[in-house]
Amino acid sequence: FGLWLFVYLCFVFSHSVFLCYLFIKLFIYRPTLHCVPSLVSLPGSFHEAGMQEVDELVREYRHSCAWFLGPFYNIVRLFHPDYIKPLFLASASITFKDEVFYGLMRPWLGQGLVLSNGRQWSRQRRLLTPAFHFDILKNYVHIFNQSVNIMHEKWRRLLAEGKDELDMFEHVTLMTLDSLLKCTFSYDSQKSSEYITSIFELSDLVVERQRFVPYHWDWVYKRTAEGQRFYTACKIVHDFTAAIVQERRSQLLKNGPPENSTENSTARGKKKTVDFIDVLLLALAADDKMQITHFHNIYKMSTKCHDTTASALSWVFYNLATHQEDQERCRSEINDLLNGRETEEVTWEDLSNLPFTTMCIKESLRLHPPVTTVTRYYSQDMSVPGGCTIPQGNICLISIYGTHHNPEIWPNPEVFDPMRFDPENSKQRSSYAFVPFSAGPRNCIGQSFALAELRVVLALTLRRFRILPGSRRPKRLYKLIMRTEDGLPLKLEPLTEDG
Ligand code: HEM
Repeated sequence: FGLWLFVYLCFVFSHSVFLCYLFIKLFIYRPTLHCVPSLVSLPGSFHEAGMQEVDELVREYRHSCAWFLGPFYNIVRLFHPDYIKPLFLASASITFKDEVFYGLMRPWLGQGLVLSNGRQWSRQRRLLTPAFHFDILKNYVHIFNQSVNIMHEKWRRLLAEGKDELDMFEHVTLMTLDSLLKCTFSYDSQKSSEYITSIFELSDLVVERQRFVPYHWDWVYKRTAEGQRFYTACKIVHDFTAAIVQERRSQLLKNGPPENSTENSTARGKKKTVDFIDVLLLALAADDKMQITHFHNIYKMSTKCHDTTASALSWVFYNLATHQEDQERCRSEINDLLNGRETEEVTWEDLSNLPFTTMCIKESLRLHPPVTTVTRYYSQDMSVPGGCTIPQGNICLISIYGTHHNPEIWPNPEVFDPMRFDPENSKQRSSYAFVPFSAGPRNCIGQSFALAELRVVLALTLRRFRILPGSRRPKRLYKLIMRTEDGLPLKLEPLTEDG
């Protein structure tokens, strides 16, 4: 009897605590957010319907709303440039990545740049910034050319076999991963199929876990089949990166630090292209406190970066397939630039001579931003327009997708119109209206890298192929990045020299 009484009392006690918690959340804490319209909701769908719900939300609320997610989370959603600006601009010392959205990625990405906070973040950011300097990025353009050539060879083979409709996501993801591995590790992706399968699996598993709140507790998740798959995939990815870092470190000890050269291998005969590891090894040589663990964290980060570029590229292909006039205009801009050259290689200097192609890329990033939201909390109260204060610690969901689809800023937001990015038409627009790479101190460090890759791949692809819509219309799906429910089928037509 004593045991049953104890169990009963525990049950009553835990329910009372839970009810008190709900009461505090609903009636005491919630009014502190009275300045933004409030709605109570379950987690939204990550499918097409969920995207359309966001469109409706933005049409109705125009700048922000508080989102009472289940009984557990109270989130402020913001989707207007004036509202997201103060949050993006806040100093990194008071800005934190929350555990609700980002914590689930921690076993995979570790304490790397994407997830770390405070001094740990600023140290890594300082360390990694030189790897994205223009002088270094220039070298990667040659690698982008190589990777896209490999993809096009494969496309030609498939076309010759009669397969003219391809899933763009699949092809482009393998290509961006190949180029990223070459730029970061000087590693050939053909040799790493288990690693590649694991990083694809990790993205899927994190999204599934986000959707199902009981899985947010580690001890529950670890006991599920999904949890076991997740931790196994993490181990494969970590062992892979650790082995490469270890090997390069041994080379460093044997041969000394790499030359501080940014010159390309082909120009110097034997020397290879300077990769991220070289830049970091130089930093290591100059900094006694730098630990090998920093390398591991930095390299875990690079297992996540390729899929954003893959999403951007797949959607730009789709948008140009469905807008043939814009595709033709890009093609003639590209052909005017490349015709009459001995080699068909896009160079770093060419990238600034593709204005219309760049406008199409930007419009595609607006319409289909690969990263749809970022979330933050702040260690002090944050003011947003309308005299509103977001209390410290409250999770803020900055909706990049919502801001890009806000009809107050972008008339007919669903329409693909590259002319929105004509310099004349952009003059009056807030610089926080278009934020695919986030903004402020925690913006995307890989922005220039990604934009360079997007231009190289698009230029060479449109020069060699005509892209046409596939047999079915894709349905959007959020899977950490903007993807599609069932691939992104597009048709390809090879072009001859004279188009
Ligand atoms: C079109 C392609 C890309 C898009 C749209 C994109 C977008 C973003 C966004 C929105 C963030 C902010 C995330 C947040 O605050 O949670 C971010 C951060 C970051 N991105 Fe990218 N990204 C792209 C490509 C890349 C590439 C190619 C790399 C690396 C080579 C990269 C590395 C990073 C890193 C390390 C961060 C964290 C920066 C920090 O917190 O200091 N990204 N990216």
